[in-house]
Amino acid sequence: MAYGSERAEMPPVTDWVNDWDWLDDQWGENAIEIWNSVREVCPVASTERYGRAFMPVTMDAIYQVAHDTENYSSVWVNVSRPDAPRSAAPPITSDPPDHHGHRRLILPTFSPKKVAPIEDDLRAFCRRLIADLDGQSATDAAVNYTQHIPVHGICILTGLPEEDADLFRDWIYKNFQLAPRDNTIRLQVMTEMSQYISALLEDRLKNPRDDMLTMIAHAEIDGQPVSWDLKVGYIRLQIVAGIDTTWSAIGSGLWHFAQNHDHIARLVAAPNDDPLWQMANEEVLRYYAPVTMARKVLADTEVSGCPVHAGDQMLLPFPAANHDPAAFEDAHEFRLDRANNRHVAFGLGIHRCAGSNLARLEMLVAFQEWLRAFPRYTLDRSRRVTWANGQVRGPREIPVLLNR
Ligand code: HEM
Repeated sequence: MAYGSERAEMPPVTDWVNDWDWLDDQWGENAIEIWNSVREVCPVASTERYGRAFMPVTMDAIYQVAHDTENYSSVWVNVSRPDAPRSAAPPITSDPPDHHGHRRLILPTFSPKKVAPIEDDLRAFCRRLIADLDGQSATDAAVNYTQHIPVHGICILTGLPEEDADLFRDWIYKNFQLAPRDNTIRLQVMTEMSQYISALLEDRLKNPRDDMLTMIAHAEIDGQPVSWDLKVGYIRLQIVAGIDTTWSAIGSGLWHFAQNHDHIARLVAAPNDDPLWQMANEEVLRYYAPVTMARKVLADTEVSGCPVHAGDQMLLPFPAANHDPAAFEDAHEFRLDRANNRHVAFGLGIHRCAGSNLARLEMLVAFQEWLRAFPRYTLDRSRRVTWANGQVRGPREIPVLLNR
């Protein structure tokens, strides 16, 4: 099959209601204002830039789509060129009834019982990253801190080799920032990842270890062997779902706290087991939720009065729902101690995040260690903060002055 190779260069968006684009340069830094401005006009925006695609921005509409697996399929989990090559990465790309078996297979790896014991290791890892900054007055908090922590966590739990971290981040960048507009890059990343993961799984068949890779290499569902492609897909998902998601959440939190020293002061005055830390973690997740998903529309239907048709693409911006004033009191306000915080950063319905225990722990530990080490750090205003657009939104460069 021939895939379109040209990267479609798109003009900047001037109308977010009728012509939105999640890879527009304005999205990364301004997505919250964009969703809020759309919500004031209508609950569902549209675009023709990737074929016809819709973007609901209210909690109601997002809840409806996420729970309706009859009319919306997860075979497409991002908005891309309509002829994009797609491959399975279950459970996220699967629908009922298959979804349940795939999810059951991977859930135990990320259960509280498996995640809680790695806290000391994660804390020691964060402290080593901080110790590496000894003698420095400025650094990039994303490049030298946030991007490393989730790779460490995912590698401990899955058995993926941490020395390949740069490779994982390169695939993630290409997959999320470039591939939605460029089928050649999508295919290249899929092929490289599949070859790499196949080699790891082959190795575990010969040399079993006590890790997720070995479990997946031998996987069966209800006594039936799982196909090799799906086994590769499970591991591809761990790499693309388990790294830049949490890296973005930690980064957004550090970007926020650098500009809100009253929040830092309240947090560092509290012991690590004070509920304020948990509440702050949840508020970072609500306010700066990084992950936007998508669905393929299976049948003609409607969302909040907006007609949609079979074959359309439907963005699922869970972060937009987190800013809906109909769902949260003072949704625009970052409240460090928000008590009733039923945010949907981890999604809704059957695909709700399988890695939320791990993500929460990594964030908590990363914030505690950084804020206690550098309670007076500020953004370095002489340099730019850069943001990732699209599916996983968060800062990729955060220049800071440590102000020790
Ligand atoms: C702050 C960090 C994270 C956020 C905000 C996040 C968000 C999400 C969201 C919104 C979904 C729903 C997908 C959908 O409805 O299509 C999801 C699913 C998933 N996430 Fe996460 N995630 C995070 C971290 C992680 C980590 C660390 C892992 C570990 C590997 C992970 C693994 C998964 C998996 C396997 C699914 C698919 C579950 C299913 O389809 O049943 N995530 N995540």
